Amino acid sequence: MSQGKRYLLTGASSGIGAALARELASKGYDLALAARREDNLHLLAAELRARFKCKVAVLSLDVTDYAACQDAVSLAANALGGLDGLIANAGIALTGKAGSGHFERARLTLETNLIGAIACLDAACALFRQQGHGHLVAVASVAGKRGLPHTAAYSASKAGLISYMEAARAELLGKNIDTTLLLPGFIDTPLNSDMPSRPFLISVERGAALIAKHIDTRTVSAYVLGWPWALIGRILPYLPTSVMGKF
Ligand SMILES: NC(=O)c1ccc[n+]([C@@H]2O[C@H](COP(=O)([O-])OP(=O)(O)OC[C@H]3O[C@@H](n4cnc5c(N)ncnc54)[C@H](OP(=O)(O)O)[C@@H]3O)[C@@H](O)[C@H]2O)c1
Repeated sequence: MSQGKRYLLTGASSGIGAALARELASKGYDLALAARREDNLHLLAAELRARFKCKVAVLSLDVTDYAACQDAVSLAANALGGLDGLIANAGIALTGKAGSGHFERARLTLETNLIGAIACLDAACALFRQQGHGHLVAVASVAGKRGLPHTAAYSASKAGLISYMEAARAELLGKNIDTTLLLPGFIDTPLNSDMPSRPFLISVERGAALIAKHIDTRTVSAYVLGWPWALIGRILPYLPTSVMGKF
């Protein structure tokens, strides 16, 4: 099995993506960094090249431009001399109760977190099938294990991503293409910094180090942190709706 270390990472301009880029570069990975904020990516790329002497490419990418997601995979492969993995990490968390006049937020959340992620994963998977090896990684969330009040579209987007990865894993068994599904709890990033409550919060450096380890060992599925989120993720689907309504 090939364990090459040339990866395309979406959502690399901030939060988990930027910290993960540092972790992976320190482990000898070559990276194509993708996001909309190109300036952030160039700064990060310069830092990684200087600190870790790795190959780093920068790709300006809006994952809601699905044709551009296809192109990004080819561009990353050209820039890095091949592609061994894709990490679908880009995401947004726009909240809004159902029926509260926030349909546009819901649409954008689904377009970014689910369809955008699938556009990237699908394009990479096509390349991996062709070359006979590869690694698909998706950053979903504990929120995808049960629809959470106030954040219905976010939960729906992550539930969809979890389903997609489960199906892809079954399809790709025996094809030398690995899948890694990551289910973070709360990691301290701009995505959630204005939330009133962030239980079991961990630093972005710690979260990225754990995620990088799972990517490096090609773990099939992991909560981040394992404890207590693995337990919470398993219990969530069985909680009575009356309890969920109190969240
Ligand atoms: N932080 C947590 O506690 C937590 C928990 C569970 C899951 N997650 C997931 O982890 C992932 C990273 O989130 P984060 O916490 O690191 O948040 P963040 O700091 O806000 O970073 C989000 C990243 O996604 C990128 N992005 C957003 N929309 C995009 C678009 N349309 N096209 C391309 N890139 C886009 C942003 O880049 P640009 O704005 O430059 O495009 C940014 O790099 C998300 O999928 C999130 O759902 C986070």
